[in-house]
Amino acid sequence: MSIVPVITIDGPSASGKGTVAQRVAAELGFGYLDSGALYRLTALAAERRQLNWRDEVVVARLAGELDVVFDGAAVLLDGNNVAEAIRGETVGVGASIVAALPSVRTALLARQHAFAALPGLVADGRDMGSVVFPDARLKVFLTASAAARAERRYKQLIGRGEQADLAAITADLESRDARDRERKVAPLQQWPDALLLDTTDMGIDEAVEQVLMWWKTR
Ligand code: C5P
Repeated sequence: MSIVPVITIDGPSASGKGTVAQRVAAELGFGYLDSGALYRLTALAAERRQLNWRDEVVVARLAGELDVVFDGAAVLLDGNNVAEAIRGETVGVGASIVAALPSVRTALLARQHAFAALPGLVADGRDMGSVVFPDARLKVFLTASAAARAERRYKQLIGRGEQADLAAITADLESRDARDRERKVAPLQQWPDALLLDTTDMGIDEAVEQVLMWWKTR
């Protein structure tokens, strides 16, 4: 087992795992890895170069060569802050398409491992506990019903002053979930060694408390 303590939080889109993971990391003084951002960055970089998201060879090469710097809230791609651009719904769809390509996942592996540093790491994504950090000391599968997740995403977009359509968001989440679950490599699923945290009827504070409690008892 690695000497760096790692907590993995996997789960479907818009389950709140990113917020929970960041809060847990801050509480413990650990680093934070948003692995979805790497897939989103790959999709955005491909789109900007007018590459086809399904062209595995070309996209995997791009993923391996991404010029990315995470600097606090800023995410620099080729020197430009794209923190907001990678949150767009189209980029999210592109991310789930490039994420289904095995060579793209392999190309991003070393970059994810590099985040593991003392005093510890909280990593969120779909395969953090299964593929990237299989030796993690605590593995959480954080989920919520599709309706609850769609409503959270809807409120988030409205809160940012963007236009949002609940039916379209629900359909989009369902197709992304299906793509994540059904892909051959690193599919999204709750593995037997992960603890289930269903946040359908739970606020963020409570979810953070639960993860911290599990961590204390490890
Ligand atoms: O978590 P987020 O919604 O930002 O992730 C965007 C997409 O990246 C997901 O829909 C999923 O397809 C992919 N992803 C993945 N493995 C991860 C993190 C994200 O396949 N560890």
